[in-house]
Amino acid sequence: MTQAKTIAKPSIVNLDELEQQAKQQLDQASYDFVAGGAGSEQTLRANREAFQKITIMPRVLTGIKEADTSTILLGQRLSMPIYITPMANHGVVHPLAEVGSAQGAKKAGTLFVAPTGASKTMEEVAIAIKDSPRWFQLYFNKDPGVNEQLLQRAEKAGYSAIVLTVDLPVLGIRDRNVRNSFMLSKDLDRSNVPSERYVAATRSLQSLTAGIKDDLSWDDYEWTREHTTLPVLIKGILSPEDAEEAARRKVPAIIVSNHGGRQLDTGFGAIEALGPIVERVKGKTRVLFDSGIRRGTDVFKALAIGAEAVGVGRPVLWGLALYGADGVAAVLEHLRAELTNVMRLAGVSRPTDITSEYVKGFS
Ligand SMILES: Cc1cc2nc3c(=O)[nH]c(=O)nc-3n(C[C@H](O)[C@H](O)[C@H](O)COP(=O)(O)O)c2cc1C
Repeated sequence: MTQAKTIAKPSIVNLDELEQQAKQQLDQASYDFVAGGAGSEQTLRANREAFQKITIMPRVLTGIKEADTSTILLGQRLSMPIYITPMANHGVVHPLAEVGSAQGAKKAGTLFVAPTGASKTMEEVAIAIKDSPRWFQLYFNKDPGVNEQLLQRAEKAGYSAIVLTVDLPVLGIRDRNVRNSFMLSKDLDRSNVPSERYVAATRSLQSLTAGIKDDLSWDDYEWTREHTTLPVLIKGILSPEDAEEAARRKVPAIIVSNHGGRQLDTGFGAIEALGPIVERVKGKTRVLFDSGIRRGTDVFKALAIGAEAVGVGRPVLWGLALYGADGVAAVLEHLRAELTNVMRLAGVSRPTDITSEYVKGFS
C-alpha cells in the first residue's frame, strides 16, 4: 500500500517544478493570476527564451576555492544579489501574504520590496521583519494626498527606498483573468490604500487599480522625489533613451523590467534590453533587473551584462503558496545555491567579479 506523502519541509528540485507543485495546490483562478501574462503571452515566453540565447563562458585554473554571493545594494548588505520584486496581492496564495514573503526574505538575508497593492499593510510587514532590508513600491495615485501619505508612512515604517513603477498607465489585458472573471476575494484587504476598497466598483484588478495616475510623466517622478527624503528608483524601463533620461535626472537606480510579461504583449525578452541600457548609462545610474529569473544561471547572466542585483517574482509566490515563509526562504536559498554553483564553475568568487567577459550572445 502506498501512503499519501506529506512534504512538510520545502524540497525544491528547480523552480519550474515548484510551479507545477503550486499549480496542483492552488485553484485555477489564483494560479492563473500569478502565472499569467498579457495577451497571447508572447512577452511572458520571450522572457525565458531570451535567457536561453545567452551562453556562459567559464574560466578555469583560477585557484578560486569559494564563491561568496553577498553584496551591497544601495548601502545595504544582502546575502545575495537577489531580492523579492514588488508583487500585489500575496494574499491570493497564502493567508500570511506579504508578511510571509517578507519573513522569507529576512530568513534568507535579503531585501523585500513591499507593494502598494498589498494584502497586508506596509506597517504589518515592517513589524514582522524589524531591521531587515525593505523598500516600498509606489503606484502613483491620481490623488496627491494618497501619495504623500504613502511616502510618509514608508519613511516612518523604516523603508529605505521608494520604487516608483512606471509601466502601468493602464493594466495589461490578461486573458487568463478575463477568462476566470478574476476578482479579489472579500477577505483580502488592499490595506495600504484603504480608499481603494470603497471607491472600487468591483474587486476586479481593473477596478482596484483605477486610482493609479494614467498619464504619469517625469514631472510626477520629480514630485515624488520632492516629497520624500528616501532615494526614488524607477521600475519598468526598457528603452535606452528612457534610461538615459533617468541618468540625466540623477535617478539613483533604474530597474529594467517588462513587469514579468504582464503589461505590453509582443515585446521582447526583458534581458535583451539590459545590454543596450547598461552601455548607455554605466557609471551614471545603477541598474537592476527583473523578469524571467528562474535559475542561478539567469542571475549570473544578468549580473554579467551589468545588473547589480535581480528581482524574482512568481517563484516566490509558489514557495509561499506551498510552504509559507519557509517556502519563500527556500526559493531564495535555492537560487543562491544555484548561483554559487555557477560562480564556482565559471571561476568567479564575488558578484562584482561577474563581468561581460563571462557571457556570449547578448547585444
Ligand atoms: C502576481 C504579481 C503581481 C505583481 N504586482 C506588481 C505590482 O504591484 N507592482 C509592480 O511594480 N510589479 C508587479 N509585478 C511585477 C513584478 O514586480 C516583476 O516585474 C515580475 O514579476 C518579474 O517577473 P518574474 O515573475 O518572471 O520574476 C507583479 C507580478 C506578479 C507575478
